[in-house]
Amino acid sequence: MAQPPLSDAIVLFGATGDLSRRMVLPSLYFLDCDGFLPEGLKIVASARAPLSRDAFVAQLRENLAGRSEGLDEAIWARFEPRLDYVACDATTAEGAAALKPALEGRRPMFFLAVSPSLYGKICAALSGSGLATADSRIVMEKPIGRDLETSRAINAEVGAVFGEERIFRIDHYLGKETVQNLIALRFANTLFEPLWNNLTIDHVQITVAETEGVGDRWPYYDEYGALRDMLQNHMLQLLCFVAMEPPADMEPDSVRNEKVKVLKSLRRFTRVEAQAASVRGQYTKGVVGGKEAAGYETERGQPTGTETFVALRADIDNWRWAGVPFFLRTGKRMPEKRTQIAIQFKPVPHSIFGGAGKDDLTANRLVIDLQPDEDIALTLMNKSPGISQGGMRLQSMPLSLSLLKAYEGPGARRRIAYERLLLDVMHGNSTLFVRRDEVEEAWRWIDGVADAWKDAGMAPKPYAAGSWGPSGAFALIERSERAWMD
Ligand code: BG6
Repeated sequence: MAQPPLSDAIVLFGATGDLSRRMVLPSLYFLDCDGFLPEGLKIVASARAPLSRDAFVAQLRENLAGRSEGLDEAIWARFEPRLDYVACDATTAEGAAALKPALEGRRPMFFLAVSPSLYGKICAALSGSGLATADSRIVMEKPIGRDLETSRAINAEVGAVFGEERIFRIDHYLGKETVQNLIALRFANTLFEPLWNNLTIDHVQITVAETEGVGDRWPYYDEYGALRDMLQNHMLQLLCFVAMEPPADMEPDSVRNEKVKVLKSLRRFTRVEAQAASVRGQYTKGVVGGKEAAGYETERGQPTGTETFVALRADIDNWRWAGVPFFLRTGKRMPEKRTQIAIQFKPVPHSIFGGAGKDDLTANRLVIDLQPDEDIALTLMNKSPGISQGGMRLQSMPLSLSLLKAYEGPGARRRIAYERLLLDVMHGNSTLFVRRDEVEEAWRWIDGVADAWKDAGMAPKPYAAGSWGPSGAFALIERSERAWMD
């Protein structure tokens, strides 16, 4: 396959916003540190704020110097000349035309770090001003819409200007090292594939717990809630990587075709299932990490029906996964930050161990930790050391890949997920990006859950900040005689 042309300019819309400041600009700097940015690559920051280039550069320098990694003067001397700042209203063709002098003869990638309501307008303006050339690419952040209908509208507006192969929908979870490691684990080992099905796996748990609250992000969050903010994208992506069939290769469409099949096999929620198989919650005041935390309603300033916690049981109706529930759980203001996928295997069919050892037996479990630490561990039963009377004693021990060690030593550091993704856009590789039909299938399923909640009149149940969600979340999993791995 011919190599797609390299982007040689990045235009960052919303360059003074939070996402740009915390993720995108530092990622570009770190890529430069490691020599990944092509020679001559230009970074054109753009926003409405009437800043001079010097003022923007000074702000960025301060931002980078304030990070725990610190600023390396030699790298900064290389990075700084790449930067430009163009103040403009990019939602009109006349406004976007202000970018033209900076992009003369270049193949830009446009990164939309702005509200999704502006995606369509900016694309139309890029087209109207002649900047959306055949060599250009567009990068969009989630959320792509609030439901299937609005996501279709955004996709149609963006698709009217950029062909699908030039659209890169970011889900930053796909840039995380351990998510990619999941692909390696499943498809670079012979060990797991024969066991990766309903004959051997009892159930799967995916937990994305955060200690942070919503805080001043509520104007955005209140419109979306945990279902649309986390489930629709990050968590369904994790589910897809666990559940998909082996793709023929790592080409973008090979992988994405398999993920779409999983999304299509997700059993739709009905009103009855919604009540039995899902729980919505909203945090009230409590204590997280020893500190008092306000309730969501207080942060929001008034009562609201938005959930900050969801737990649900998803069923994948296909040959591989029939009868294997996937329990998904995400919430703000949980007792700890934890992003984890746990594959619970079935118990041995018959125990040969009598006496005390019989009760020691626990089923194998593969635990993939994404955050705060990255690790992959397989728990195996083995004999407890020593002599015991009344039967052999057993113990469960983790066989760990110790990924933590990968970050030890000079120069080793944990990458921001955006680093990998930005580099992939530059090179035109969309394997780790979400295709249009994929995002729409995910919305179709999520809309089913939201509609079922509405039909069933399910309001969020309160839970104290610092707890693992409403009691219904425990009942949900216990109904199938299983328990959360806390
Ligand atoms: C974002 C959500 O997509 O992901 C946030 O909008 C959430 O609400 C964040 O806090 C979590 O990302 P991470 O990488 O910290 O797990």
